[in-house]
Amino acid sequence: MIHIPVLSNEIVTSFEPFVDQSEIVYLDGTFGRGGHYKLLLEKNPNMQTIAFDQDPDAHAYAKEHFGDLIQSQKLKLYQDNFLNFDKHYQGGIDFALLDLGVSSPQLDRPERGFSFYHDGPLDMRMNNLEGETAADLVNNMSENDLVVLFKTFGEIHNPFRVVRAIIEDRKTTPFTTTKQLSGLIERVDGWRKKGFHPATQYFMALRLKVNRELEVVDQVLPKLMEKLNKNGRLAVITFHSLEDRIVKNLFRIYPELGEPLRRKVTHPTREEELANPRSRSAKLRVFVRT
Ligand SMILES: C[S@@+](CC[C@H](N)C(=O)[O-])C[C@H]1O[C@@H](n2cnc3c(N)ncnc32)[C@H](O)[C@@H]1O
Repeated sequence: MIHIPVLSNEIVTSFEPFVDQSEIVYLDGTFGRGGHYKLLLEKNPNMQTIAFDQDPDAHAYAKEHFGDLIQSQKLKLYQDNFLNFDKHYQGGIDFALLDLGVSSPQLDRPERGFSFYHDGPLDMRMNNLEGETAADLVNNMSENDLVVLFKTFGEIHNPFRVVRAIIEDRKTTPFTTTKQLSGLIERVDGWRKKGFHPATQYFMALRLKVNRELEVVDQVLPKLMEKLNKNGRLAVITFHSLEDRIVKNLFRIYPELGEPLRRKVTHPTREEELANPRSRSAKLRVFVRT
């Protein structure tokens, strides 16, 4: 499935003050398939872009579709975690965007191991060249640590039976595939809510842990807020309530740096939710440097 950029009208609206400026720097921390980038470049063809994506597939795609912009250095794309943005760029930023989480191509390709609908290796690494996989966690974490992980990151009230079953099963057969884990969860927890796979929150918790998703957001936001030029903006799209809570809190606790553009969070319109069901849990917050 192609990736449809979420909340794109709202991102373009937040970008409005920069449309007529001749020299601006845009930092895209989550380049993906460049959907948001393309929209913003249409609005301001002069902008210089510093972009990041830790997924090698995103780079292969960018080379093919944005090769001329990379060649001319109008687009500098780094294969690194956005947490390390200041290793590659130390100047000021006018507009920054983090569109967190995974892209549709990552979710849909069984070999990336994010999906409980397709069988594939139990991987879930956005940067699949390094680090621990979801299988490593499921096979090696202690019973207690797995319970804590599913309770905190998955917000699962009672993960005990599933964790017990994992511990029993892995004694004889280590977990290697997504279906092995989703099948176990189906067997133990059963389907409770129509249309909501019982493995959804377990997979979400593992994904957050494998990619340290909450930790990097917590660490990068203050660094990005500091690097914004006067009147610069930082837009963050989240898909998880814990992530949104981090963004909401951090945007409020640095009044010396700036303030949230709007007090309330922005959700997709009903039309967008219908056209792109993956936008349903998206939330946008924008910080303005004052
Ligand atoms: C939701 S997609 C972004 C889609 C993009 N805005 C578009 O319109 O095509 C998130 C992308 O960010 C990348 N990503 C997520 N967290 C990252 C991080 N901490 N550092 C670098 N890239 C990250 C993922 O690999 C994925 O490709």
